[in-house]
Amino acid sequence: MECVRNYINGKWVDARSGQTFQSINPANKEEVVGIVPKSGREDVVDAVKAAREAYEGWRMTPAPRRGEILFRVVELLMKKKEDLAKLETREMGKVLAEGRGDVQEAIDMGYYMAGEGRRLAGETVPSELPNKDMKSVRVPIGIFVLITPWNFPIAIPGWKIFPALVCGNTVVFKPSSDTPVCAAKFVEVFEEAGLPRGILNLVHGPGGETGEYLVSHPGVDSVSFTGSFDTGKRLEGLCCSIHKLIVTEMGGKNAIIVMDDADLDLAVEGAIWGGFGTTGQRCTAASRVVVHQKVYDVFVAKFKAAASRLRLGDGLQNDVDIGPVVNESQFSKILNYIEIGKKEGGKLLLGGKACLKGNCSKGYFIEPTIFGDVTPGMRIAQEEIFGPVVSLIRAEGLEDAIRIVNGTQFGLSSAIYTQDLNASAIAERDLETGIVYINSSTIGAEIQLPFGGVKQSGFGRKEAGGAGGGLDTYSRWKVVYRDFSGKLQKAQIDR
Ligand code: UN1
Repeated sequence: MECVRNYINGKWVDARSGQTFQSINPANKEEVVGIVPKSGREDVVDAVKAAREAYEGWRMTPAPRRGEILFRVVELLMKKKEDLAKLETREMGKVLAEGRGDVQEAIDMGYYMAGEGRRLAGETVPSELPNKDMKSVRVPIGIFVLITPWNFPIAIPGWKIFPALVCGNTVVFKPSSDTPVCAAKFVEVFEEAGLPRGILNLVHGPGGETGEYLVSHPGVDSVSFTGSFDTGKRLEGLCCSIHKLIVTEMGGKNAIIVMDDADLDLAVEGAIWGGFGTTGQRCTAASRVVVHQKVYDVFVAKFKAAASRLRLGDGLQNDVDIGPVVNESQFSKILNYIEIGKKEGGKLLLGGKACLKGNCSKGYFIEPTIFGDVTPGMRIAQEEIFGPVVSLIRAEGLEDAIRIVNGTQFGLSSAIYTQDLNASAIAERDLETGIVYINSSTIGAEIQLPFGGVKQSGFGRKEAGGAGGGLDTYSRWKVVYRDFSGKLQKAQIDR
């Protein structure tokens, strides 16, 4: 068991109140993974003060030097990948191979953003006047609060911390209270790599209190949040009312379309991976599969057979495909959605209950669950469940399928399986999601292009790399005009 602490101004400290909470292994509720400070308003004030004091020095540090520190962080992460992956499995339950992938995603982002230290490119364009030049440059925003979820406990903090730091911001990081030990181990790597004090601060505590103190603190310039729609929307309202920038990444009700000409075995593999990978706990999870009526019965039989072969258990064991769900409240919420699905008339084809036997007796395990004959308006086809529950919906054809996929409040990720080039082009054009996959599942975004959704899936700019990605979230554009004519020149007027 670890006793983790807050990290404020380069020191590991307890909450001023001395209060703590526990982080529990969801595969074995008897195992306490860590004892963690429960921070209050005073700890938040300390962390913001440290970030503010460190800001000037960090802002003035040349971006290539900032990038060099990030390169060192990533080299260390490579060495620690296996240990961090195992810790993720113990703290939030994902199977070990996925834990490794999670750490790798942070490594990928770290290398990408470290390299940005020598780019961070702006524009130079010609002036309409002689002896005058003009350019746009990226400048940091200031003090960033980063609030991250438990489902990608290293990758998502990496998505946020690396670009925030390379752009010259200082940070107060508030991780999910389900994965505080992962967060502390991640921050330790920055310390070991030589990041000067105060630039990255870590404050643990429940979102409802610690998170909200942080977001409303007047010393904070901007907020980046990934988590549930309800919390994100509340924070958006709070930030907008005090004129503070916020970016939110929230839920999804992602869908895979399976057309009548699809390679059905490939589509089944994609639906299994998208629906049950990470126990369905990804915001990109494929919780709906919209199947062309001509192949519906064949697809259902193959999908059900494949899902019934999935093995549930502790993700540290080699022969396990699906780990537990993260905690008691998610466990009850998912089981409640299963009851709702049954009452609404969804046809329960597989699973539908908690697994309490053998390997599963000590944790929050739910059997992979499939509902057939789901209609698009049912709650299980509209609301984010965030668990191993997949709804199968019949479609009459491509147009109907796209209408069904678009018919929710969310718009993060979607996919289509088809051999028809024209159908894929129409889907690519008409699916109202931030990310569209063709002949692969709804999950598995790479970091070199932006990540984010539309509608209730997100607000503001996006995460990750590429044009319109994280650099635009974590920096501001400043425009500079320089007149070296030695006289007053008037734009638009002197012609
Ligand atoms: C999330 O689900 O919260 O595309 C993030 C993916 C991962 C990231 C998921 N690379 O599934």
